[in-house]
Amino acid sequence: MRNKVIDQFSRLYGHPPAVVTRAPGRIEFIGNHTDYNGGTVLGAAINHGVWVAAGKTAVPELRFATAAQSGVVTVPAGAPHRRNGAERWVNYPLGIWTSFREFGLRQPAGLDYLAVSDLPVGAGLSSSAALELASALAYLALTGEHPPREMVVQLGRHAENNFVGVPCGILDQGVSGFGKKDHLVFIDCRGPHFDTVPLPAGAHFWIFNTHTKHALIDGLYAARHRECLDAAQALGVDLLADVTLARLEQGKTRLSETGYRRARHVVEEIDRVTRVRTALARGDLAAVGRLLTASHRSSQVQFENSTTELDLLVEALTDLAHVYGARLTGGGFGGAVLAFTDAGFSPVQAEQVAGVYARKFGSRPGVLHCETGDGAEVIA
Ligand code: GLA
Repeated sequence: MRNKVIDQFSRLYGHPPAVVTRAPGRIEFIGNHTDYNGGTVLGAAINHGVWVAAGKTAVPELRFATAAQSGVVTVPAGAPHRRNGAERWVNYPLGIWTSFREFGLRQPAGLDYLAVSDLPVGAGLSSSAALELASALAYLALTGEHPPREMVVQLGRHAENNFVGVPCGILDQGVSGFGKKDHLVFIDCRGPHFDTVPLPAGAHFWIFNTHTKHALIDGLYAARHRECLDAAQALGVDLLADVTLARLEQGKTRLSETGYRRARHVVEEIDRVTRVRTALARGDLAAVGRLLTASHRSSQVQFENSTTELDLLVEALTDLAHVYGARLTGGGFGGAVLAFTDAGFSPVQAEQVAGVYARKFGSRPGVLHCETGDGAEVIA
């Protein structure tokens, strides 16, 4: 991949890149919509991601290209504004560039830039955070600054919240930034504090991508964010992570029926993250799997961020041998299901699941058997 990215960049801009970076996509293992509520979450960086090649130029212009589309988007350096339509992807590297100044970092004044991805887009594997982190590391290499990794991760979230306009938490950027092969990343989102937890041998991840995405996905995510903050306020706390189940029950009458279910999902999900950590530490993968499936049920019924497509995959998977558990991964409202399996789960079984799905919905889900991988890094 490294050579492919360098060649493509050189052909496009007529000079080789000064730097190549890579940032992984991520799996949300458990901790659904807990991050912006100040809770905890476990994720894994995977062995697929986004590569960025970049070089400085003397002209005060930012030239962005992606292997996924033809053409170069040229943006005058200054105070860039958000892009729409086919150029929307530029908001991620441009948002990072803009956020540099807000974080007191030097911006490369002129830039040639190419992104190449081997991550399935729209699968809930956070290609956006990967693009943000790979871009941030590339710009930092060009300017020669070395801020702490925590800052790079916050920069990604800041760009997404303030430039792209999605009120996400720190999960995606945190996992892409702190990932480690054969480990999960544990985030206490309040700090935030980042840690890694060894993944027991024989644990496998399979991703089933529905290729569906709710038309109102960004609006629905923002609506859930709002509902959670409103529920916290009604319960007299800043964030739902401050609420115990007992306190939630006591304060139930202060919440709407919907607000109560949203809050219950978050409070119980934070507890499931703790229980998954304990079960992982004792190597009880069956217990981990049951908690993952319970997380999905809660998304389905209480948080209402699942879809019939995701539910069908979870149904089909949880019946099979070698599957510990399955759940939607990421924000929901489309995207992908994660199956957590032992080494015996086979491509034949994955095909069976894809077949059940295709018979019902008329199209095949994408299937990806992925491994854990390391976090964002400078490659060359
Ligand atoms: C998306 C967001 C994350 C997180 C998850 C849900 O992936 O980007 O910050 O909120 O949804 O857990």
